[in-house]
Parts: sequence; structure tokens; C-alpha cells
Amino acid sequence: MNDKELVAFKAAKLAKNGMVIGLGTGSTANYFIEHLAKRQSDEGLSISTVASSTISAIKAESCGLKVVAISQLSRINLYVDGADEITPNLSLLKGRGQDLVMEKLLAKAANQFIVVADKGKLVSRIGEKFIIPIEVIPDAWKMVKHQLEKHGAKGDIRLNTGKDNVAVSAHGSYILDMHFPEHISDEALNTLLNNTTGVVEHGVFYGIASQVLIADNGNIEVMLTQKPL
Ligand code: 5RP
Repeated sequence: MNDKELVAFKAAKLAKNGMVIGLGTGSTANYFIEHLAKRQSDEGLSISTVASSTISAIKAESCGLKVVAISQLSRINLYVDGADEITPNLSLLKGRGQDLVMEKLLAKAANQFIVVADKGKLVSRIGEKFIIPIEVIPDAWKMVKHQLEKHGAKGDIRLNTGKDNVAVSAHGSYILDMHFPEHISDEALNTLLNNTTGVVEHGVFYGIASQVLIADNGNIEVMLTQKPL
């Protein structure tokens, strides 16, 4: 097993009979889906899942998991997802893809949000390696960009893979990919983006993770927050 699979395997052990489990998006989340499905078939576990993206729903169904529509649920027991960056205080950067609205919704609706990643995701501050994805109402993208530039942000609207149009998120938003000055803390960045009108959602997950499982060459380290599980 590589490190991403190892940590996903460990997280799948947290599933219990009767749980509603949120499925993240990405390669580590895919391993989680596979190991969850394996536990379901090996142990006869009765679980329902809810997916953070169409691609994860397709994967889960193909593995034999029952996938429930998010609109049917008000809370879930467990949400397991990867991340692009993780700081020592468990702030996360997520949403490299275009599904961060659903990812944050499920992360916040979960009694436990478990992050699974390899050691390469550890950083000292959010934005150290990656740009911050910010989903915006299409009509507001220039105004939001201007507001953020006043705080020293630099970046632009995301283009599609063919570079012949703008990218559109799973929820019909445009996406700004922005860098912010180093002196802005994770908390301040989260507050700034939460308070900017026109922002639908953003990739900074501040104070949401319950636990982070980090795999490093076959060993797993558990990083905890003060948030009660
Ligand atoms: C997608 C995400 C992913 O969880 C993040 O990009 C990590 O992906 P991977 O497990 O493939 O490294 O936030 O929106």
C-alpha cells in the first residue's frame, strides 16, 4: 500500500454500522471509498454514503456503496476527505478541483471530519504551495477580484482545461485563483473571504477538521484539534 492508501485504509476502520458517511473527492478519497466498500462487503456493514462530487458518487456506486442525495440529509456521522495543504493548527486548503462547496458543506455537517493525507501536504501556512481557489457568483468576479486586490491578493479568473473559456464549478460559479501576502494569517484570510460579498465559497477550511491522519513512509501520525469529537 502507498501512503495515501494506507491512511485511507486506517480511516475506513472508523466506519460503524448504521453510519451516514460523507465521501470526499480526489485520489486519497478514492482509496477511502474502495476500503469502505471492502468493509461493507467483508463485514456486512450497513452504511449509507453521500458524495461531495459526481465523480465520487460514480466511484462509490461502482464499488457497491449506497449513495444518498445530500438534500435528504441534515447531519452526517463522518466525513473523510483529502487536502492540498495542512497547517500545524489543522487549517486546510482544499478544492483544487471544482467541488469545494459540497466538500465544505459535508465537512461542516459531520460529527467527525477526518482528513487523510501524506506528509507532502504539511505546510506552515495556507497558500504556501498552492493558490487559494475562490468560487464567486459569475457577475461578481471582477468586483470580488478588486476587493481582494485591496488586501494585496494577486491572481486571476480560472480558465478551463482547453484555455478557451472560463472554468465553471460544479455549482455554476466562476473561480478566482489568488495568492495572498504571507502576513495574512489563516484565520484572517478565512474571515476576509467569508465576509467578501460575491464569494460563494473558498478553499480555506479553518477550524473545521476534527482529526488529520498523516501517512509518512508507512507510519501514520494523528494530528488532533481541540474540537470535541
Ligand atoms: C479536491 C480536494 C482534494 O481532497 C485534494 O485536492 C487532495 O487530493 P489528493 O487526495 O488527490 O491528493 O480538496 O477538491
